[in-house]
Amino acid sequence: MIAPAVPLLDVQGLSLEFRTRSGTVRALAHVNLRLHKGEIVGLVGESGSGKSVLSYAMLGISDAAARVTAGRAMFGGLDLLQAGPRELAELRGREISMIFQSPRTALNPIRPVGLQIEDVLRRHAVHTRAGTGPEQDRGLRERAVQALRDVAIADPERRWGAYPFELSGGMCQRVMIAIALACKPALLIADEPTTGLDVTTQAAVMDLVTTLARERQMATLFITHDLGLAAEYCDRIVVMHAGHAVECAPTAALFAAPRHPYTARLMSSTPDRQASLAELAPVPGSLPDLRRADLPPCRFVERCDRASARCHGPLPVLDSDAPHAVACWHPLDEAVPAVDPADATEARHG
Ligand SMILES: Nc1ncnc2c1ncn2[C@@H]1O[C@H](COP(=O)(O)OP(=O)(O)OP(=O)(O)O)[C@@H](O)[C@H]1O
Ligand SMILES: [Mg+2]
Repeated sequence: MIAPAVPLLDVQGLSLEFRTRSGTVRALAHVNLRLHKGEIVGLVGESGSGKSVLSYAMLGISDAAARVTAGRAMFGGLDLLQAGPRELAELRGREISMIFQSPRTALNPIRPVGLQIEDVLRRHAVHTRAGTGPEQDRGLRERAVQALRDVAIADPERRWGAYPFELSGGMCQRVMIAIALACKPALLIADEPTTGLDVTTQAAVMDLVTTLARERQMATLFITHDLGLAAEYCDRIVVMHAGHAVECAPTAALFAAPRHPYTARLMSSTPDRQASLAELAPVPGSLPDLRRADLPPCRFVERCDRASARCHGPLPVLDSDAPHAVACWHPLDEAVPAVDPADATEARHG
């Protein structure tokens, strides 16, 4: 048997909460997530399910109110959750990069885009020689122009000097991608990278990111509301609900036979896989208030028509080693017993 490759990123049992004036928000609970080199993994789920909070925790850019209460996130022998601010700053942009939503606000409006790429290169000293001087500056500039060329920006020498307001939304997003990929990171986190772009530009940006990811064998975590995009571009998909990773499977298997009742509902609320979850009829019921002291172990239980007494006990763990993992006592590929043994026990005892 061939031993499975060591994952590039291995998140196990991550729990994170925010201490706020109105209570403790249990934003992530026991999240398991793995990414291998070269893999494109989609992270999908309704608004508020914890997709961004999870990615910020990986990069060490969580809000000051955030506290990791359990778990680890191993990346090349380093636990990202235990790493100090300097170690994380070293990694960010070089080993792990992120593309944020709304490129216009993420870019500096008063600095030419070429210089913004050079800033990243300089910070991580990946130009030809260490030190400063006209020769090094020329090297940096060439690399910045090449980075613009890599993201298919026409006339990159001229565009090097452009300010963000002189570029279209799609072009700004390409610049963001160029900045994120300038140092050839091993892991890219793309949080809704195509929000606000028209459909044609959206496809072009997705094609670009995934082509570069494949060429460079870069692992990519692609966060999206859009099941259609996830289906088209991802090798595997992880479904999140209310701070839990509830299902994880290769894309084709997930769409052919979703196992978690929540995944099935998400799919039925986006029947043609084309529309965004944000724009469509939501899954009935709402996400539970994550500040509730009495949050049930399964956070979907109150929206689920397959729930039984057992679902109020400890939740099954999402098995990172299983090819199609689900954190549910009553997945769709198993018939719900007419009388759940746990219900029967409960009936006997109380
Ligand atoms: N700084 C914070 N303080 C308190 N709660 C927070 C904070 N940041 C996020 N949360 C809460 O954490 C939960 C997860 O938020 P997150 O932004 O990760 O959702 P998301 O899945 O990225 O949603 P969207 O699809 O809208 O981007 C939400 O309940 C949110 O209100
Ligand atoms: Mg988000």
